[in-house]
Amino acid sequence: MAKSIAVTHTIPGPKSKALLDEKQRYVANPIGIHLPAAIVSARGALLTDADGNTFIDLTGGVGCLNVGHSHPRVVQAIVEQAQRFTHTDFSVAPYEPYIRLCQRLCEIAPGPRPKKAALFNSGSEAVENAVKIARAVTGRPAIVAFQGAFHGRTYMSLSLTSQVEPYKKNFGPFMSEIYRVPFPYPYRSPEPDATHWVMQHLEELFTSHVQADRVAAIVAEPVLGEGGFVVPPPDFFPKLRALADRYRILLIMDEIQTGIGRTGKMFAIEHSGVEPDLMTVAKSIAVGLPVSAVIGAREIMDALPEGAIGGTYVGNPVACQAALAVLDIMKEENLVARAAALGERLLARFGAIQRRSALVGDVRGLGAMVAMELVKDRRTKEPAPIETGEIIRRAMQRGVLLLRAGLYSNVIRILTPLVITDAQLDEALDVLEDAVLQPFTT
Ligand SMILES: Cc1ncc(COP(=O)(O)O)c(C=O)c1O
Repeated sequence: MAKSIAVTHTIPGPKSKALLDEKQRYVANPIGIHLPAAIVSARGALLTDADGNTFIDLTGGVGCLNVGHSHPRVVQAIVEQAQRFTHTDFSVAPYEPYIRLCQRLCEIAPGPRPKKAALFNSGSEAVENAVKIARAVTGRPAIVAFQGAFHGRTYMSLSLTSQVEPYKKNFGPFMSEIYRVPFPYPYRSPEPDATHWVMQHLEELFTSHVQADRVAAIVAEPVLGEGGFVVPPPDFFPKLRALADRYRILLIMDEIQTGIGRTGKMFAIEHSGVEPDLMTVAKSIAVGLPVSAVIGAREIMDALPEGAIGGTYVGNPVACQAALAVLDIMKEENLVARAAALGERLLARFGAIQRRSALVGDVRGLGAMVAMELVKDRRTKEPAPIETGEIIRRAMQRGVLLLRAGLYSNVIRILTPLVITDAQLDEALDVLEDAVLQPFTT
């Protein structure tokens, strides 16, 4: 079987190195880079750099490439729309792609209640707007968010994000009226019933910190993304929904990383049968082109006055056409089912690695959203961030691009394009396995 990886230079090769020197000169230092190589082309699950090295990409641009890099249908949709027009500002001069994308999102959003949608640019912006809507509709100020959550980097979304380094450090003060509870984390839960433990925290929160009838919304990721691919027990979201209903609190599901088929359902919350009041979508909806959405129950989405939400670039027509092509491809290529199959393959392989390496404390996932958590000692579960970084570096030098996650930076997560072939995935996982099993000098 022909190999996909082709690494002929140490990374970075000479051409990438020359470009990265220019980056050092002109790009602000806080804009960091993960792969020290300059990409010149990409297709499916493969990336090629300026020196001709080809990598298998298990990061998918941080979960944006479920349909793969440069899918010909998406490229065609983008080119054709760009030739027609690139921008009018929908609120000034409307156009069909915006309306069709909202229609399609409403059709696939979970739950029986009729839906409406509004488009934005980034994931952070979608979260901001979901919170604005929830506050205005309920007339309540407070928002409950979870430990380990990531909701973005703008001030409200950053206030909801729960990781100090590198996201929040020195950026305070943050928004007021945000209250935090633990997320059910089966591997690290202090109690065997992680759901029960978190539900107790929520009830306590309403006794000791904020009155429940001042809470507008609970914001949650169905599976923690940046927080380490933490999958809550199956009873968690039904119980959270019941608690939210009891106090007339809105449930906002952030499906920005989990959505568009990644977990083996179109949206991850579908695994629990729960219908959110509002949902945010971005990333893989448009292959990384800047479009995001808030989708929600019609009466909630319609409650604000005209002009209350929006923005110059929101629902850009080129990005909308890309998103419409993505939704077609997801269906035609059966990529939701593919995510489930990839997940089984990944879990089996990660389980085998775990049996061979004491470093792998936990293997978990939902659909193709699979991760391994690395620990220095399986009994104490002390995180192993240095070894995690070393494994990712080793794999990168051998042509496999991986990302870490987790509050303690000790989780290796897979966000592969769903169009990756079995042969490519196996090739990449062979590299990962070697990288885990190779001895560590630290
Ligand atoms: C769950 C979740 N919410 C929100 C965001 C923020 O999205 P963006 O980076 O597009 O602002 C992210 C990005 O990683 C995310 O994973």
